[in-house]
Amino acid sequence: MARLLDIASAEPAVSDPPDPLPVPATWPAAHPVILLEGLSFTYPGAPGAALAGIDLEVGAGQQVAIVGASGAGKTTLIQLLLRFWDGWQGRLELAGHDIRRYAADDVRAVYGVVSQRTHLFTATIRDNLLLARPDAGDAELWRALEVADLDGDVRAMPSGLDTWIGEQGLSLSGGQRRRLAIARAVLRDAPLLVLDEPTTHLDTVTERRVLDALDRLAAGRTTLMLTHHLVAMERYDTIVVLDRGRIAERGTHAALLAAGGLYRAMWDIARPGTVPR
Ligand SMILES: Nc1ncnc2c1ncn2[C@@H]1O[C@H](COP(=O)(O)OP(=O)(O)OP(=O)(O)O)[C@@H](O)[C@H]1O
Ligand SMILES: [Mg+2]
Repeated sequence: MARLLDIASAEPAVSDPPDPLPVPATWPAAHPVILLEGLSFTYPGAPGAALAGIDLEVGAGQQVAIVGASGAGKTTLIQLLLRFWDGWQGRLELAGHDIRRYAADDVRAVYGVVSQRTHLFTATIRDNLLLARPDAGDAELWRALEVADLDGDVRAMPSGLDTWIGEQGLSLSGGQRRRLAIARAVLRDAPLLVLDEPTTHLDTVTERRVLDALDRLAAGRTTLMLTHHLVAMERYDTIVVLDRGRIAERGTHAALLAAGGLYRAMWDIARPGTVPR
């Protein structure tokens, strides 16, 4: 009972303002959509900060990659952007306002997320897609599957869209699950996209297919890609290198390779024996 009371009386990690602002769904080109200044965050009870002094501006339509070793703070940063935690210091703005001026659900509604763990339900392909857009018709579902490069797979399944995908999607391969998550994000049609390690544990050929599908999804959307796996990095406007909660470097793939810093070291370690470009 004492433990239940603890839970019942615990302060929620975020609380909505009494009079939340609406989150705009479109932004003028090149207008900062996300603005971070001196952003620092320590998990409750943790001995040290997970993020410290982060400065970052993401303009509408920009493609930004955030790279760094495991534990660097990538997922923490996304959790702050999605307003899962409020106990940060510094500045954290979405569309020109402090993120705490919005209701948490409204903030999450402008983001589409594709992560390494896709939550699938023990249901049909159709049910799993409709979760993202309950009123979508078949034509829309097929269009989303095409963008995700999953239409051929679904056509080849015994009952097409009505194929039962097994316990939490167990009858699907890792690549199919990832592409189903992409199809969902297409249906959600959110203006901001977060890709958190979307290609881990995939073989090289499958990874290529997923990356191509992600390219089609990201076109025209403000995109944040979080990864420690440096692949197809040329396509990002800016790459931010996180090191133990701080920004170590930032720039384009070519500039960061030439700079010979942490990014260069990550690149070289991932490609032992290859001739540096
Ligand atoms: N819920 C939590 N409570 C306390 N500490 C946490 C929590 N989540 C993460 N951390 C700590 O915060 C730091 C940053 O973790 P985070 O998950 O953001 O790293 P990451 O860059 O996403 O790593 P990975 O590449 O492994 O996903 C780590 O030191 C981690 O141990
Ligand atoms: Mg992470």
